[in-house]
Amino acid sequence: MLALELASRTSEDWIEQATRHIDLVLLDHANCEKKAAGNALSLLFRYPANGRLVETLPPLAREELQHFERVHRHLQRLGIPIKPLSAAPYAGRLNQHLRRSEPEHLLDTLLVAAIIEARSHERLGLLGIHAPDPELRQFYLWLAAAEERHWQLYLDLALEQFPADQVQERLDTLLQVEAEILSSLHPEPRVHS
Ligand SMILES: [Fe+2]
Ligand SMILES: [Fe+2]
Repeated sequence: MLALELASRTSEDWIEQATRHIDLVLLDHANCEKKAAGNALSLLFRYPANGRLVETLPPLAREELQHFERVHRHLQRLGIPIKPLSAAPYAGRLNQHLRRSEPEHLLDTLLVAAIIEARSHERLGLLGIHAPDPELRQFYLWLAAAEERHWQLYLDLALEQFPADQVQERLDTLLQVEAEILSSLHPEPRVHS
């Protein structure tokens, strides 16, 4: 069974930055959940005849929207004003590594999604330990478990449709790219800064 092990661990610097600016991280997180739902939907648009995607992604998109609703409730509870926030360069930089031709594009898209979910799993788990508010800590621990299921789902979708050695090789490459992107802390506090 292929496992997904991130090529780097999140630094103490990120934990410090995120907990000091939890309002910005929560605002960014609300956007991340919307994007996660949107990405699942765009895969459905791009591959309308792919039975496995059609079967598994609608419930995933619904779950991500429920996450968004719950993050939004925490923003309201904590009195954090909603404002537009620029995204971290993280996802954009990862997406630059998607190969354009098929079926490679599908493989890369599934693997990048798996990696983003795995990093979210790691970081939300850290917020589950370090967030300043006890209700938030509980919420993040619950959420981290969901994001763990999501990276497994995307990895399984890749393994069902591509040979294992091809998945492994590409996964290793993209994991290195991801670790490199996060190797210096983005100055703006974000989930993926
Ligand atoms: Fe989520
Ligand atoms: Fe997710």
